Amino acid sequence: MLRFDIITIFPEFFREVMDYGILRRARNAGLAEVKAHDLRQWTMDKHHVVDDRPFGGGDGMILKPEPIFAGVEALTGASRKEDFPLGTRVILLSPQGEVFSQVLAQDLSNASHIVFICGRYEGVDERVAEALATDEVSIGDYVLSGGEPAATVVIDAVVRLLPGALGSETSAVFESFSEGLLDHPQYTRPPEFRGMKVPEVLLSGNHAEIERWRKEAAIAKTKRKRPDLLKE
Ligand code: 6GU
Repeated sequence: MLRFDIITIFPEFFREVMDYGILRRARNAGLAEVKAHDLRQWTMDKHHVVDDRPFGGGDGMILKPEPIFAGVEALTGASRKEDFPLGTRVILLSPQGEVFSQVLAQDLSNASHIVFICGRYEGVDERVAEALATDEVSIGDYVLSGGEPAATVVIDAVVRLLPGALGSETSAVFESFSEGLLDHPQYTRPPEFRGMKVPEVLLSGNHAEIERWRKEAAIAKTKRKRPDLLKE
């Protein structure tokens, strides 16, 4: 069982998202559990303030360290990255992080407890990244207003790698990126649609030929659309 906890100022954001498709199945099957927690519950002041102005001046508000440290401590039992139980990852989601990848998704799928800290785009007090987060992750080179959509992306990519999460145990092994290539094109019926034909070889029943065609088509497609994946 992989447990996800999400620390956020928008816990409602996750209510419906987590209830579809493979994630819903994985939760029902007891493979994963996801819970969103309101950061404000770990504030100490009457007005439940979670952010403050940046030292040194500048625009925007910065998430304060105290409620985040208190939240991680409540969820993991520790509030320094050296002290977390084995199998625990505390992930700060921010545009400054390591760019998320299939390799990182594989790595995270071996954890037993993942805590996400959803940053706001203006920033998070740096002591969170320094002393609390085992990982800092971005989902790509563009700016989101918060880490919440990124948390749903990472959870989806990790959960579908859990043994038993997909219909067939092997289907995650032979897909895009796990071999460093894009998927080959796929077709279903009808064999001709609006003048567009399915490649003959796929209708031939010759499995060796089909495998060869798929491999070549995957390489050609990768060369054309993502040449960066072929450069070592
Ligand atoms: Cl994880 N957070 C924010 N705020 N923006 C992002 C991101 C994360 N990943 C890409 N852009």
